[in-house]
Amino acid sequence: MKKKIIVKNLTKKFGNKLVLDNISFDVYENEVFVIMGGSGSGKSTTIKHIIGLLKPTSGQIIIDGVDITKLKKHELIEFRKKMGYLFQEGALFDSLKVWENVGFYYLENTKMSKKEIYKLAKKKLALVGLEGIEDMYPSELSGGMKKRVSLARAIATNPQIILYDEPGSGLDPVTAAVIDELILALKKHLRVTSIVVTHDLQSAFYIADRIAMIHKGKIHAIGTPEEIKKNPDPIVQQFINRKPIGPITGNTIKFIDDYISNTDI
Ligand SMILES: Nc1ncnc2c1ncn2[C@@H]1O[C@H](COP(=O)(O)OP(=O)(O)OP(=O)(O)O)[C@@H](O)[C@H]1O
Ligand SMILES: [Mg+2]
Repeated sequence: MKKKIIVKNLTKKFGNKLVLDNISFDVYENEVFVIMGGSGSGKSTTIKHIIGLLKPTSGQIIIDGVDITKLKKHELIEFRKKMGYLFQEGALFDSLKVWENVGFYYLENTKMSKKEIYKLAKKKLALVGLEGIEDMYPSELSGGMKKRVSLARAIATNPQIILYDEPGSGLDPVTAAVIDELILALKKHLRVTSIVVTHDLQSAFYIADRIAMIHKGKIHAIGTPEEIKKNPDPIVQQFINRKPIGPITGNTIKFIDDYISNTDI
């Protein structure tokens, strides 16, 4: 299997704060690679490095044989064309209509007519279950709708690599399940390579070829869903079994209990 993305000894510090601690993993072509981990563990930071929005403190990100950490700004912009990125917060342009958000790349970088771009945006929106909202503004949409518009924008250019930061968050379970199917359909029919950040366990185990578990900026396990289920690491086990007590939480539960039982609130 061809290695599409190689993350090698990636370390990131923000000031003195070590956020990614020497992480390494490979993503194979046409794989759905899930990154799982608690809030603040470094998931978004990891994929922001892969899309080149952040520069590592040290380490390499090699995509299709190119170390993107060494690219100049304009080279990186060019390179990014093969990648789609779904921001965790959606990050739509509030002053643009839905269709302009989805077709943004084409409006900015091609000579395609507005009519054609509108048609293309409509098609991509239908893929994420949205119809008839092309002419609305983001402020007129619900949270889940905005998320799906961002998703339509991420897939609009038929990228070979798609990075999804929490694609199902803020969506009802049925819509989230439809998005899972979309991710799998892109893999099957367009041979897309995907990295999906999620803490939706059901979704992770359903869509993943392999899962990496990250905790406090370190990778604790990488494996197929079956391997992850059997992994003895207590951090992995606490996470995948949704246990409130364990090494991830430390004394949090005791603190909550003591505080609420002893305080007039
Ligand atoms: N630009 C930044 N400057 C300073 N610290 C940052 C920056 N971006 C992220 N961090 C810190 O890095 C850590 C990891 O953040 P990150 O966004 O990667 O977490 P995450 O795993 O995506 O969490 P969540 O599940 O809540 O989205 C956090 O402690 C966060 O405060
Ligand atoms: Mg995040």
